[in-house]
This record gives sequence, structure tokens and C-alpha cells, in this order.
Amino acid sequence: MRMVDVIDKKRNGGELSDEEIGFFVSGVVSGEIPDYQTSALLMSIYFRGMNDHERSQLTLEMMRSGDRLDLSGIPGVKVDKHSTGGVGDKVSLPLAAMVAATGVPVPMISGRGLGHTGGTLDKLEAIPGYQVEIGEQDFIDQVKNEGLAIIGATGNIAPADKKIYALRDVTDTVDSIPLIASSIMSKKIASGTDALVIDVKTGAGAFMKTLEKSEELAKALVGIGKGVGMECMAVISDMNQPLGRKVGNTLEIEETLDILKGKGPKDLLELVLTLGSYMVVLGGKAADEKEARARLEATIADGSALERFRAMVVAQGGDGRVVDDYSLMPHAKYRIELPAKRAGHVTRMLADEVGIASMKLGGGREKADDQLDYGVGIELNKKVGDEVEAGESLLTICSDRENVDDIKELLYGCIEIGDEAKPYPMVYKIVK
Ligand code: URA
Repeated sequence: MRMVDVIDKKRNGGELSDEEIGFFVSGVVSGEIPDYQTSALLMSIYFRGMNDHERSQLTLEMMRSGDRLDLSGIPGVKVDKHSTGGVGDKVSLPLAAMVAATGVPVPMISGRGLGHTGGTLDKLEAIPGYQVEIGEQDFIDQVKNEGLAIIGATGNIAPADKKIYALRDVTDTVDSIPLIASSIMSKKIASGTDALVIDVKTGAGAFMKTLEKSEELAKALVGIGKGVGMECMAVISDMNQPLGRKVGNTLEIEETLDILKGKGPKDLLELVLTLGSYMVVLGGKAADEKEARARLEATIADGSALERFRAMVVAQGGDGRVVDDYSLMPHAKYRIELPAKRAGHVTRMLADEVGIASMKLGGGREKADDQLDYGVGIELNKKVGDEVEAGESLLTICSDRENVDDIKELLYGCIEIGDEAKPYPMVYKIVK
């Protein structure tokens, strides 16, 4: 088989056979297929798409390119959650603790920030000592003992995805439905979870900008999961503006702890409860979503979710005192306000631009090997729909440098104040 013929077939809109997909994935992992040919096929897939069968086959081949975790030693139905990526999206953190507190084991494998989107692992590393890389047996033991663990992909999970993802990032082929779906699901199937709830983001800060495309992605993800016997469903949620009130690594741990103490922002809590109620039902700890929601709310009221979070931090080497004392995490040197230029209502606050502003402050990576400044970020004092007076602070820039004129300009450009505003819905659709 020749790679050039595989590229030619897809470039002309043909359907790739199982053998051709297998040949491609194994050639990528072994290094026999050079990056330029892989990139050419990725661009052909980007423009020509893939049908259901091709997508599933690509996912399975990528999954088989590495190891598969065996979580059968953990009793109960193991449920994981994955997000397609957002700004201010710290959902996994309170969610894992709350779901675990209802008795559903949560073995969560998370990622790092990507482009303008934040990563759960980066946020956790704002906690002094927290280890995201632990061995497979320690991961299993921790989920058994504490009910939850949040780690980075262990060892050799879907190595084909690592290579393909890096090339997608630099060939502008990230936002392709077959490529996103196979990337996420190959890792999730390999991670051995029984059930999965996927948070598919839609809007300005999401990889999929329209509801129609987000729904298509959600259906592709769920279809692949069900095809391998995994209980799987998706929630399509808003990413036009950042989620919650804080964007940045330490800041998002603070907001997580606030949620677990019953004093977090409403939009974030609503999404956590929606995703969590499906996880608790899939995990067999409630008969329906209504009962599950009540159980989750109880884990905040009785402090058990906060205790699960603390237990996870301590088990993974972190300083559990951060739960009560936020000053133990790194904080930025300066807090600089961004005053509104006129009175009115906030009509727009583009999530992707806020994410880029946080990244430029040092909260995210512009290059793969950049070091993060954990304390920097942005606190949103106003969100879409809120009324604002002229001169009132729209947001607070938390920075280690005193001059943030570039960041102010970027942020003014992505915030609009008008006479009337309609808040965005938090959840648009459920795909089962
Ligand atoms: N998250 C992933 O793991 N892969 C993608 O392609 C997009 C989001």
C-alpha cells in the first residue's frame, strides 16, 4: 500500500477502507509515514470528512496504537466526563468531587491547555505539590480508596493521537469533526471507563462555533462510544462567554472551592449539576436526573464534596490546606481594573479573546515548552446581560507585570456594551 494513494482517495472524496486507516495509523506511530504525508491526509479529511464507519475505525485504530487501562479492579460503574475545551472551564474539578461524594467512582484522565482553552491539569498544578502523573496502580488504588483521581494520560495511551494532535495544531486542522471525535474517543476508550458524559462546547470560544456543528460533533462522539459498548451521552453547553467568573489557574481552583462551599457562580453550578446528574444516573446511584441533582446538591450542603476534593489533593501529594487558605497558592503581583467606557448592558464578551488575554499574561502556553504563571488571569466582574455604570470595573486583570496596555486593548475589543442584552442559555441540547 502507498500513502500517496490513500491521500489521493480521500482528497477526491472517497471512503477509506479499514486496511487503509490501519495502514495510516500504524505508519504514523512507527514513523514510517513522514509528517508531510500525514498532514496532507489530515487536510483531506478536514475538507472531505469521514462517514460513521471511517470515524469509528480511525478511533479504534488510534485506541489500539497504545495501552488500554484495566479498571475492572474498581468496584461499581466508573464514570468519566470530558469537555471539548473552553475558557474558564473548571467544571471537571467540582464535578468529580461532587459525583464521587454520591458514591460513583470517578477515574478522570484530563489534559493540558490547548490554544486559548485552559487545561484541568494546569489548574491542579497551581496547588503546591499536586502530582498529575501517578502510576496506573496508584491511580486505581486512589479511585478505590478516595472515590476519585484526576491525572494526565498515563504511559502509552493512544500515542497515535499525540502525534496527530501535534500536527493538527500546526496545520490548522483542529476543528474537524472526525479528527476531534477520534482524538477524544480513542483516549476515553483506552482509559477503561464504563460510562462517559461529554460536554460539547458551542459558540465563540469553542472549536465548533455553531449549534449545528456542535450537534454534529456530539452525535459523532456518542455514536463512537455506543459503538464500542460504552454508555455515552453529550450535553451541548455555551462557550460564547467564559464560564463562571474566573479565568486562570489559581483563580479557577479558588472558584472550584467556592462552588464546593456553596458560594460559586450560578452558571457554573448549573452546568456542574446538569452534567453531574447524568453521571450519577449512569453510575447507578439515582433513578433519574431529578433525584441525582438533589443528591449532588446535598454533597455541597453537607461538606462531603469539599472533603472528597481535599482527599484527592492530599492523595496526589498536594497541600490540602489550600481548601481553607487560598493564599497558599501562587497569586499575581498586580490587580488592575478595566473600567466600562459607557453605561448600559454587557451584550458580548468573547470567550476566545478572554482566553487569549489570560494566555498572554502567562496563564497559558503560546509554545509547547512555555512555563506557566499560575497566579495570573482575569476575574470577570460583569457578564453578558449585566448592567454596568460608566467607569465601573468590567473585569480585574491579575498580572505579574505592571503595564498591561496590550491586554486592556485586547479585552476592550472583545467586550461590547449596548442598551439591551439577552443572557445566553447555559445548556442548549442533550444528545443521547
Ligand atoms: N480535545 C481532544 O482531546 N482532542 C481534540 O481534538 C479536541 C479536544
